[in-house]
Amino acid sequence: MRALNRFAEMKRKGEKIAVLTAYDAPQARAQEQAGIDAILVGDSVGVNILGYSSEREVTLADMAHHTRAARRGAPDPIIIADLPFATYDTPEQAAASAKFLQQAGADAVKFEGAFPDLVQVLGTLGIPVCGHLGYEPQHCERRVHGKTLEEATKIFSDAKALDEAGVFMLVLELAPAELAAAITRAIKAPTIGIGAGPATDGQVLVFPDVLGYAEKNFRHNRRYAEVGATMRASAATYLSEVRAGLFPTLANGSTMPAEVLARFEAEILERRG
Ligand code: KIV
Repeated sequence: MRALNRFAEMKRKGEKIAVLTAYDAPQARAQEQAGIDAILVGDSVGVNILGYSSEREVTLADMAHHTRAARRGAPDPIIIADLPFATYDTPEQAAASAKFLQQAGADAVKFEGAFPDLVQVLGTLGIPVCGHLGYEPQHCERRVHGKTLEEATKIFSDAKALDEAGVFMLVLELAPAELAAAITRAIKAPTIGIGAGPATDGQVLVFPDVLGYAEKNFRHNRRYAEVGATMRASAATYLSEVRAGLFPTLANGSTMPAEVLARFEAEILERRG
């Protein structure tokens, strides 16, 4: 198994952990070549790639398909795969779902919510778990959580319970920066923020958001490219060149050797009239 304990070591040394989502082989390959610390095959694949309207539509088969693709593209990095909605309702179901994603190439699984019992069950089966608190798209549409004393207290104690149960990493999504900082100080596992301020042990972003081809942009995101604009411009230029007969040219394909062409014309085309 790839060394997941290196993340705890990075936390101890104060080295930031960089995680990105990847859903296919070219994305994962590019991230491996860039030296990414871990790849998350997130259930955000549903909205970003599969055209679903919600993460809740993502199936275990979808997750296995995309995990396999990411693993083919990136043999070495640690891959964490999301357990999708309604695939971890009982310990038995969580175990079966997690094993399925392990067989598809995941080193670890992530699930949303405070279920320390599931972390322990998966741990006894040798399946490492990344927790996910704050905004949980599978469970709630309201984005920011943790701005009231009650919510902040709950997220803080849930984080501690998941840590004690043995998560190797904890994603904090859209949690207020002060809460994320307090959790980061209070738990052993490295925290990975997304829209949770600068004090977490690492960051995760959604690759289509980073590349600039997701439909929406978000305050928590930084676009490092404008791939959406490049895709639209490339499609439009291709279309106009095909229509104008400018593409393809002979250089885009192959031609027949002269003697084969001569015989083809004499023996086949002329004979057949
Ligand atoms: O599915 C996903 O991409 C995620 C990240 C936003 C953390 O869970």
